[in-house]
Formats: sequence, structure tokens, C-alpha cells
Amino acid sequence: MPSDPGFRTLSGLHSAAERALPASIRAYVDGGAGEERTLRANRRAFEDRRLFPRALVNVERIETRTHFLGEEQGVPFFIAPTAYQALVHPEGESGMARAAAAEGVLYTASTMSNQSMELVAKAASGAPRWFQLYVQPDPARTSSLVERARAAGYRALVLTVDAPILGDRDRQEEAGFTLDPAMPLGNLDPGSYAEGKDPLPQKSYARGRITADFVWESLERLCRSAGLPVLVKGVISPEDARRALASGARGVVVSNHGGRQLDGAPATLEALPGVVQAVGDRGEVYLDGGVRRGADILVALALGARGVGLGRPSLWALAAGGEAGVRRWLALLREDLRTALALTGCRAIPEIRRDILFPG
Ligand code: FNR
Ligand code: LAC
Repeated sequence: MPSDPGFRTLSGLHSAAERALPASIRAYVDGGAGEERTLRANRRAFEDRRLFPRALVNVERIETRTHFLGEEQGVPFFIAPTAYQALVHPEGESGMARAAAAEGVLYTASTMSNQSMELVAKAASGAPRWFQLYVQPDPARTSSLVERARAAGYRALVLTVDAPILGDRDRQEEAGFTLDPAMPLGNLDPGSYAEGKDPLPQKSYARGRITADFVWESLERLCRSAGLPVLVKGVISPEDARRALASGARGVVVSNHGGRQLDGAPATLEALPGVVQAVGDRGEVYLDGGVRRGADILVALALGARGVGLGRPSLWALAAGGEAGVRRWLALLREDLRTALALTGCRAIPEIRRDILFPG
């Protein structure tokens, strides 16, 4: 490892990132919308859950393999899409993607990446990857993103639907976080936006780069024409989940954008059972928001998620140690998951059932 990431446990990860990052970037990464009720609720929902330890099961061999969209994965977790990774570490997206590939973990590249999806694909070559799509105000640009994702070997489109406009992120605002319009964004054509040269709050910056008029009929068209399976990310309502599947999506990601959008939305873990019931066997259900440890992953899977995404922890790890930091974090998380599986008497992912939850 080139440099020491400065953490040895999952518990030490966040302070290592805090030491590495200036205050305004910390506010961008860690903050949520408004008073951060939803941000806190995401974590609290996991913290309030208990698991039954189970005895006298032979747990010499633990198998963490599973399938996402029919494709085998080494672990039931993945890296959720996050924007502007070069703000937290110069290695940026390709550092994170290289680490994910080395650890056999699926990486989701954001539309708002500093490095292009082609560069990320090269860094993650040989490993499965998804592309997160923010639909663009100009339809030709959206089509071009989808074509590029297909050509660069991304296996699915993760269509984010909970951010037609950005939430009001008070913590960011108080910290004076802004984005330079000249910052490289490898997936979007620079220089074609109306704004001037002055740094912008993130909400204004996003305005020209995400459309607010993508509707259900547009989703049907996208699913028909994408040539890739579509997962709809940012679903909390069972009715929206049902509609996403009926429009041709292959699944949904139960997400409130890590508490960065509607402050007052329920915790994703609270919303999960309703969505799982609405989807039934018509599609796959994933979840993100507040997942930090192996036990959290177990809880989400016990409540019906096929896999879980992690956002902030991946940025903390990148901030703390670049590629080496992300590798260390992923290795720790995998081991934490194995331990939780063994101590709840689950030898493989299909053995995770609701009855591992206490009191049930
Ligand atoms: C995000 N998220 C996000 N989602 C998305 O679809 N596209 C994006 O570009 C971003 N960007 C982004 C930046 C930062 C700094 C954060 C923290 C989050 C949301 C992300 O994919 C995910 O839904 C949440 O991060 C999950 O919650 P946790 O794991 O951060 O608690
Ligand atoms: C964010 C956007 C870019 O949450 O998704 O910061």
C-alpha cells in the first residue's frame, strides 16, 4: 500500500476522513437537506434493529456470493453513485473504481463524475459496473450518455428520480460550499452551460445539468430504448415502485438520496418492507442510506433487499487513503459482514431470513 489510510477499523473510518478533508468539503459529503431529520432517521433505523445470535451452526465456511440482475457478485453490497469524487481525493473516480474492481465489488459511476465513464471503465476493467443516469435537459445529451454507457460495458442504468431539483442543504450552505463551473465533468460537455465563471451553490450548478421534466411516460420510453436494464433509484413510495416496474424497470433502489433531498422523508429501512411487498417477484429491490456495517447489510437483506449501496463511507475511505483507503474499507466491510453472518448462523446469503431479526 502506497500510504497508510489512517484507519484500522470501520469505526475509525469517519475520523480518518475528517482529518483529511477541509470543512466545506466535509459539509458537502456528510451533510443532508434541511435539519437533517431524514439523514439521522436513516442511521437510527439501523441502530434500533437487533439481531438474534444463533448457536451451534457449523460456520467454518461462509459464502457471501449473490446475484444482481442475474450477474454473480462476490458480496451483496455495492458502491452507490456519488458526484465529484476528485473533490475528496486527486485519484477521484478511477481510484475508487480500481479499488472496487480489485476487491470484486460493483462500482456505480455517477453522471456527475469528474472523470469520464470511459476512464472509469478502464480502471474497473473486468469488474461489473453500473452507470447512474441524471436525465439531461437536452434529450440528445441523455441519449449520448446512454450510448456511451453501453459502449463502455456498463451493465445497467441506475436512473435517479429523487433529484429533479436539489434539496436545500443547509449544512453545505452554512459552510460556504460552492462548485466551480470550470471543474472538469468527464461525462458532460463542458462550456455549454449558460452560467458565468463564478462559483455556484450546488443547487444552482445542478439546475442546467439535471432535468426537472422527466415523467412516467419518459421512463417507459427510456426503458424501451436503453438497451440496458434500468433500475429506478430514489423510490420510497410503494405506488412509485409498482409504477416503475410497470414502466419497464427491472428493479428499484429504495433511497432518499442519503437524506439530501426531501427532509422529512422516512428512513429507507422503514420504507423497504412496503416496497418489497409492492414489487413482489416482478423485479429486484435494492436499498441505500445509512448502511455502515455488516449487521446493517444483514438487516436490510432480512427485510427483503437483494443488495445494498454505500455512499458516504466510500467517500470517507477515498478521502482517507485514495485507492488504498477504499481497498482497506471494502476488505473490512466484507469481513464484518462475514462475522455477522457467522454469528447469526447464516452460512450463505439465501439463509438470511426474517427470523434473524429480534424480536422478529
Ligand atoms: C450522493 N448521492 C448521489 N446519488 C446519485 O444518484 N447521483 C449522484 O451523483 C449522487 N451524489 C452524491 C454525492 C454525495 C456526496 C452523497 C453523500 C450522496 C446519493 C447516493 O447515491 C446514496 O443514495 C446515498 O449516499 C446513500 O446514503 P449513505 O450511504 O451516504 O448514507
Ligand atoms: C448530490 C447530487 C449531485 O447529492 O446527487 O450531491
